[in-house]
Amino acid sequence: MRSTSTSTSPPPKSRPESRCRPPWASSFRRAPSILTILLAATQRPVSFAEAGRFCGRAGAGSGAHYSRQKSKTASPLFNHLRRRRAGAHSTQPFPTMNIGIIGAGHIGSALAVRLTSLGHSVYIANSRGPETLKEVEQKTGAKAVTAEQAAQHGTDLIVVTIPLKNIPDLPKNLLASVPQDTPIIDTSNYYPMLRDGQIPELETGSLTESEWVQQHLGRPVVKVFNNIYADHLQNKGVAAGTPGRISLPVASDDSAAKQKVMQLVDELGFDAVDDGTLHESWRQQPGTPSYGADLPADQLREHLASLGTERTEAQHAEFKANHARTEQAMADQGIKLK
Ligand SMILES: NC(=O)c1ccc[n+]([C@@H]2O[C@H](COP(=O)([O-])OP(=O)(O)OC[C@H]3O[C@@H](n4cnc5c(N)ncnc54)[C@H](OP(=O)(O)O)[C@@H]3O)[C@@H](O)[C@H]2O)c1
Repeated sequence: MRSTSTSTSPPPKSRPESRCRPPWASSFRRAPSILTILLAATQRPVSFAEAGRFCGRAGAGSGAHYSRQKSKTASPLFNHLRRRRAGAHSTQPFPTMNIGIIGAGHIGSALAVRLTSLGHSVYIANSRGPETLKEVEQKTGAKAVTAEQAAQHGTDLIVVTIPLKNIPDLPKNLLASVPQDTPIIDTSNYYPMLRDGQIPELETGSLTESEWVQQHLGRPVVKVFNNIYADHLQNKGVAAGTPGRISLPVASDDSAAKQKVMQLVDELGFDAVDDGTLHESWRQQPGTPSYGADLPADQLREHLASLGTERTEAQHAEFKANHARTEQAMADQGIKLK
């Protein structure tokens, strides 16, 4: 995944608004064409790929994907057919977006593979600079950029997916010029033993993990993709209505942003389940019943409802202990997180 090649060319200019804005960017939504309706009616589930290990590097590039240049120049009909072939799982036609991903590891790469294969333009960054991401570019079809450029070019969506302990290292004002209605996704999990060290607010439970991230970023975030393995995120999306379709909890204080992200979750092949506010997002954190469990939507809703909304001290202690056991088991297997 690491590379030493040197490509520092700046990302191309964004496409015209009319061709890249998602449905929520405009009050006008086109009615689907007859062809679109016929295609939706004949949609079939895709087969599952082999599941990978939690800590295995995302197999970026295992799915079909297409270059950004192709997606930019092809006709809407061609793009639609191409996206269908690449595994667009939503029954709704979904305009292509400009997406910035900060973090090019397991989750960042897995998302980049899926999003580029759906026709979106993806700009991806790590901490060491775009020249170190040649291989990621080749495998994902995303354009390697700096974190600042990812924030600048991700006009429709930003994903922050770096180790929790590194969140405070992100450049100050990184998101200052990102439009207010651009959703910002946080995929963080807290691994105090293996990676993050002790963060007092998370140890006491006074904040949820994403509330802590939100405070650092200075912008509302949407918590999602934190409780599915990167490999499953890349390979286990299926068409809506497929029995056993995996569901993902989505939490945010910004309900408009949450709705937009829930649409994207569906497009990626998963049922989106509303997990309430960011303060309630402890219910999808490590150590809870649904964490990494790939539950279908009805079971996930049941689990979330059974926990209530306000975390009790007993729940905090229980889930923290569960997670500590998991971290210890990972450590015993020699698993290291950086
Ligand atoms: N792995 C999973 O299956 C999984 C599942 C759900 C949620 N998560 C959570 O999602 C987050 C990301 O996990 P991951 O497994 O994808 O991590 P990872 O594989 O370790 O990758 C981390 C990425 O973040 C980049 N990064 C680190 N600090 C940065 C900074 N200051 N600015 C820009 N980029 C920076 C790294 O770049 P460099 O290499 O250049 O430092 C690397 O590309 C974590 O909170 C994790 O717990 C992981």
